[in-house]
Amino acid sequence: MNPNRKDLLGIQDLSKEEIGEILTTAESMEEILKRPIKKAPTLRGITIANLFFEPSTRTLNSFALAEKRLSADSINLSASSSSVLKGETLLDTAKNIEAMEVDIIVIRHSTPGAPHFLANRLDASVVNAGDGCHEHPTQALLDLMTIKKKFSKIKDLEVAIIGDIKHSRVARSLILGLNKMGAKVTVCGPPTLIPQWMDPFESKVEYNFEEVLKGKNILYLLRIQKERQKESFLPSIREYIKSYCLTYEKLKKFASPDVVIMHPGPINRGVEIESRVADSEYSLILNQVITGVAIRMSILYLLSKRKIDGFND
Ligand code: CP
Repeated sequence: MNPNRKDLLGIQDLSKEEIGEILTTAESMEEILKRPIKKAPTLRGITIANLFFEPSTRTLNSFALAEKRLSADSINLSASSSSVLKGETLLDTAKNIEAMEVDIIVIRHSTPGAPHFLANRLDASVVNAGDGCHEHPTQALLDLMTIKKKFSKIKDLEVAIIGDIKHSRVARSLILGLNKMGAKVTVCGPPTLIPQWMDPFESKVEYNFEEVLKGKNILYLLRIQKERQKESFLPSIREYIKSYCLTYEKLKKFASPDVVIMHPGPINRGVEIESRVADSEYSLILNQVITGVAIRMSILYLLSKRKIDGFND
């Protein structure tokens, strides 16, 4: 990774070479995770704060585990347990955390740009764990690694991303990452959930669900993000299910026999994905979760490298 890189804020900022280095380093981290004692002293002396102002199962816990596996000291702060509830600003909260000699702040926030705002004002490294509808770079990196492990390449793969593209930070980061690594992306969903920002990312748009299933290596499904929708984008969830839910029957009828199914989670069973598909042999959903720990170990290590090298001089 660029040796001067202090923060990891988005896939947009990363070069193809940096993405490659994060994935290669994560492969070494997987070796640690396969040992009987899954722990290395790599980040001893490094302190990390996980500031999660939105709910999270996968991202928060895989960062927490990555920190433990590499022997970092870590603390967790959520909106409901912080003094933000008493009127403290995000910046004051972050500066107080940083004052306790914290080296890395991992932040999830509903406001797009919140991690960038902190990164410009703190000496600590900042990692974006999801900012509103903007970016979710660590999710995209773990998805790229999952794809690389399955296909031994990313270039030229045909990927369909299906669902609520408009409100999805996962889609935005993944499209950027897939484009950088040379994959071919098609997005699919109801027209109201396909955003204006599609063109610059060189993605094809297909509104017909059955058509988009054909000839793809990967079908990447997204849930409807009701919490980010301030207006009604769909006539009803029932209509959505009828047109866009991936059933086992449609998978068998339209998709390639060797297709794989991915989803960042949380999944809404029976809405965007039928249970039988989520739990099928086609599904890489839990592989994505497993890979997430190694990717987060890689990112924390690479961002700490300057400091670690300083300790050892
Ligand atoms: N994929 C993802 O970001 O899941 P969580 O919201 O559970 O972290």
